[in-house]
Amino acid sequence: MAAEKNGDVVPHSLSAKVVGSFAYLTVRDRLPTILTKVVDTIHRNKNKFFEEYGEEGIQAEKQAISLLSKLRNELQTDKPILALTDGLEDADPWNRYLQRQQGQHGDQDVVSWFKSPWLYVECYMYRRIQEALWLNPPISGYDVFNEGKTQSFFESQQAIMALCTYFEAFKKKMEDIAENHLQEYFNKLLQVSLWGNKCDLSISAGVDNSQKSSPIDSLVALQMFILVDDSDAVWSALISARRQTQSGKRRSTRVDFVLDNAGFELVTDLVLADFLVSSGLAREVRFHGKSFPWFVSDVTAEDFLWTIRQTMAANHRWTSQRGVQWQQYMKEGTWSYHDHPFWTQPNEFCDMAADAPELYATLQAADLVLFKGDLNYRKLAGDRDWDHTVGFDTALRGFGPAPLCSLRTLKANIQVGLQPGQGSKLSSQEPDWMTCGKYGVIQFYGPTSDQQE
Ligand code: F6P
Ligand code: MG
Repeated sequence: MAAEKNGDVVPHSLSAKVVGSFAYLTVRDRLPTILTKVVDTIHRNKNKFFEEYGEEGIQAEKQAISLLSKLRNELQTDKPILALTDGLEDADPWNRYLQRQQGQHGDQDVVSWFKSPWLYVECYMYRRIQEALWLNPPISGYDVFNEGKTQSFFESQQAIMALCTYFEAFKKKMEDIAENHLQEYFNKLLQVSLWGNKCDLSISAGVDNSQKSSPIDSLVALQMFILVDDSDAVWSALISARRQTQSGKRRSTRVDFVLDNAGFELVTDLVLADFLVSSGLAREVRFHGKSFPWFVSDVTAEDFLWTIRQTMAANHRWTSQRGVQWQQYMKEGTWSYHDHPFWTQPNEFCDMAADAPELYATLQAADLVLFKGDLNYRKLAGDRDWDHTVGFDTALRGFGPAPLCSLRTLKANIQVGLQPGQGSKLSSQEPDWMTCGKYGVIQFYGPTSDQQE
């Protein structure tokens, strides 16, 4: 079915069909590969499970693999999506979501792997991986993606050192920096955080995982690939919030990061957060991560704390100094890490106020919320086949707990807020511009600067 591109919201029941051909390809080709890797990882760690838990560990490994193999078969043969049975706290909302999908499909069409929205089945696969582990103590807490995440961190050491050295130079000059000059530093670190999402493992086009050149030096060459750049509006939101705090209208200025990937990307986020606090633009930063391993490289609480510890332990003065500072921020409560089951559900963010009202209320207390990465963008804009010129505010469909900004490199077939003609020009020059990870957006939603005061 052809997508309607007249600016109307594509009805939810249609959205599965709109992204159907892409979903078909992705589910058929990509997800089984991830599942196979997960099975291999668990199998390779058999001896470790035996050493830690004896025979019970081996039994758990076998059972988990058998559940995952069954899952792979369901996926490859387009079986119906099954309700979750592990009794975890989020099982009910997941099962309710499935019922909602079934309601939309009608009796004749089952909710199956190839006939459901891509966003839903992708999220569902990661939740079922968690189920396979959760049902098998003593290995229920094992992170099947941990090896890749730690490897990506170590492979990016050169880039991390370069970034921390840049930050040190900024700190030395900080007292004497005029506001317009401070904005230049801000723009650079915002862009580093954007490109940190370029591929899950490094800022360099994804060809080589290890990042050897300075991420700061790459920025000029990457500028032309930013399709929407609302950095000035983001800056204005921060300045306005700081003014309100200084005048006593607000208790504190708070920036929230809805995190995406561990490894180099997380370090770029921590450096940006450090900049916001060090420069007085924010007094508090809240990080939101995932409560279980998700989309291969997303940050969990363990990854977050591990990254700070590893940064502290770095054999490089300016890097370890950043780690020590980050640990200090955590201790004194300037920084805090939070997870909420909503982040690992398939819901679009416009559902948040109704489905996770306490999380929505938490975000409402922020002065700025930074949403990192592609999956968060898909959830912000509902993973629909929007016309590219539709406004970001329209695509959010009422979601807007606070001024917000998406820092996202494009890896999925959705993009809004472009200039007329911009999308078609890109499509004619580079058919895969929306999925190749080469382009990025810094897209803001919130009051404009004259509304902010
Ligand atoms: O492109 C594949 C994919 O799994 C998308 O479904 C998802 O949006 C993206 O990768 C994850 O990217 P990110 O880590 O930027 O959210
Ligand atoms: Mg991710």
